[in-house]
Amino acid sequence: MTRLGILTSGGDCPGINAVIRGAVLKGAISYGYEFAGFRDGWRGVLECDFIPLDRPAVRGLSRLGGTILGTSRTNPMNDGGIEAVRESLQFAGVDGLVAIGGEGTLAAAQEFSHAGIRVVGVPKTIDNDLDATDVSFGFDTAVQTATEAIDRLRTTGESHHRCMIAEVMGRNAGWIALHAGMASGAHAILIPEHRVSTRQVARWVESAHHRGRAPLVVVAEAFVPEGREAPYSPRGLDTFGRPRLGGIGLLLEHELQELTGIETRATVLGHIQRGGAPTAFDRVLATRMGMKAVASAAEGRWGTMVSLRGTSIVNVGLGAALGRLKTVPEDRYREAAVLFG
Ligand code: F6P
Repeated sequence: MTRLGILTSGGDCPGINAVIRGAVLKGAISYGYEFAGFRDGWRGVLECDFIPLDRPAVRGLSRLGGTILGTSRTNPMNDGGIEAVRESLQFAGVDGLVAIGGEGTLAAAQEFSHAGIRVVGVPKTIDNDLDATDVSFGFDTAVQTATEAIDRLRTTGESHHRCMIAEVMGRNAGWIALHAGMASGAHAILIPEHRVSTRQVARWVESAHHRGRAPLVVVAEAFVPEGREAPYSPRGLDTFGRPRLGGIGLLLEHELQELTGIETRATVLGHIQRGGAPTAFDRVLATRMGMKAVASAAEGRWGTMVSLRGTSIVNVGLGAALGRLKTVPEDRYREAAVLFG
């Protein structure tokens, strides 16, 4: 009997469990496959740590946040490499892998595929910045969660006549900021793709204030104000040497209050955006991607990943996920910016 392994690697994301359920149900019902769920990403593969996944094991999973398999940042290329993974898969009796992850996971999957290991990828990021798919699951949930939080910031801001800043996630791209900012009617949206000075932000804030509004600024974590060299990093760097979340929100809180004289408060939404139940849109997208990944394995389309193109789930090469970020185009930013003034 064919046995597929499933792993979830990198940051978690609402919808991962729906992918697992879609994959297992499609495999069990259409092909009679068995599944091994590796725990904590590549660590579970390298240590042959897995649990059996059958139909009862995935019951009710699509509405659950996080990943039932656990995740880690283990990079298999540093911790054993191709031969260690090949041996583990053989030992576990696994014929092929469904790897659910972001750019790092898909890059490793591509190397394994070149070395003859059978892998199908499923792209995963709340940031929606993988060019290889029109939309990634988890993004809709993150935008919904951020919008609800920003709506709450607005009512307290209005009561106190304050300027409120919401810092949202987006390591390389401003998609969450753009969508949550438009949805909540922000007076300024700040994204890494479009640099503006803090003076310009202050002008937008003052303009909203003069119209009797409580100014609302939505900023992506990776935004760097014009005229500044590097991201502001008062909370230090993470294990990858990137500024930790919270830097730009705090910088703007200080500088906007100085420039405008308006009392200002920043809130870092942080990992709240990654937790909790996926929206219906994300459940459907993730389920379809899981089903397609297993259908791809059954058709021998190894070395590919699944992708949303228009309304169809298709296969693209694993390489399509790498090196090309999907950033916010200038016209999308300008469209939103008309409403700031
Ligand atoms: O998944 C991507 C992301 O949400 C980024 O927007 C953010 O910078 C990062 O994860 C934070 O991840 P962690 O704190 O788990 O390393």
